[in-house]
Amino acid sequence: MIRIYKAKDYNDLSRKAANIISAQIIMKPNCVLGLATGSSPVGTYRQLVEWYKKGDLDFSEVHTVNLDEYKGLSGDNTESYRYFMNTNLFEHVNINIANTNVPNGQAVDPEAECRRYNELIRSLGGIDLQLLGIGHNGHIGFNEPEEAFEKETHLVALTQSTIEANARLFDDPKDVPHYAFTMGIKSIMQARKILIIASGADKAQIMHDAFFGPVTPKIPASILQIHNDLTIVADEAALSQTDLKGMKNSDY
Ligand code: F6R
Repeated sequence: MIRIYKAKDYNDLSRKAANIISAQIIMKPNCVLGLATGSSPVGTYRQLVEWYKKGDLDFSEVHTVNLDEYKGLSGDNTESYRYFMNTNLFEHVNINIANTNVPNGQAVDPEAECRRYNELIRSLGGIDLQLLGIGHNGHIGFNEPEEAFEKETHLVALTQSTIEANARLFDDPKDVPHYAFTMGIKSIMQARKILIIASGADKAQIMHDAFFGPVTPKIPASILQIHNDLTIVADEAALSQTDLKGMKNSDY
């Protein structure tokens, strides 16, 4: 079942996505949330913080597992995904920081770290709701095109284009990590519910190709079409290449 909600703009998208995450927390206060970084979820996290401050949300029993982390970066490096999560969400709500999980970028034994992360997700009982963004090439997490669908958490070599795109965020381009830990497609597909968000005209082509074209490892996000509980929240610009009228089996 695919549900598509069309939002007017980024703010509307952020409110809709935050509503879905809030519903999950209210219905299962000790839920496991799978979380993402990047620009797409910033507004969603901001909205969740606002509702928490109003007294409408309680994160005290929530556990989280993040999708990915750069290899080599410590959690206090401002470019690390741990730092992003702390500053955009965790520090502003009543979550127990010990219940928040991001792959350890500084793990000395990467294979052991991947195993630990997979076991951690299993020991938590799996992910109730996984939040995702989508890359321009259809990547989810750091699963780039042609990655095998069946992988769990693993170490990936970043493509040259990703390294170059990330260079602007670092004071010294030499500091851009060349590797990252990421949950694999298999880990993502095992989540009970998936929520993917996309904003802006630059995502319109990939949203069309990923969700209205064939399922193929060339477009990693296309596999989500066969998940049995997928919700897409995208703004008008991100859906501008997509004709929703002809869709069966969806709400929008
Ligand atoms: C982030 C992640 C990435 C992003 C994707 C979209 O944890 O895993 O797959 O979701 O690159 O990024 P934005 O939202 O910045 O366009």
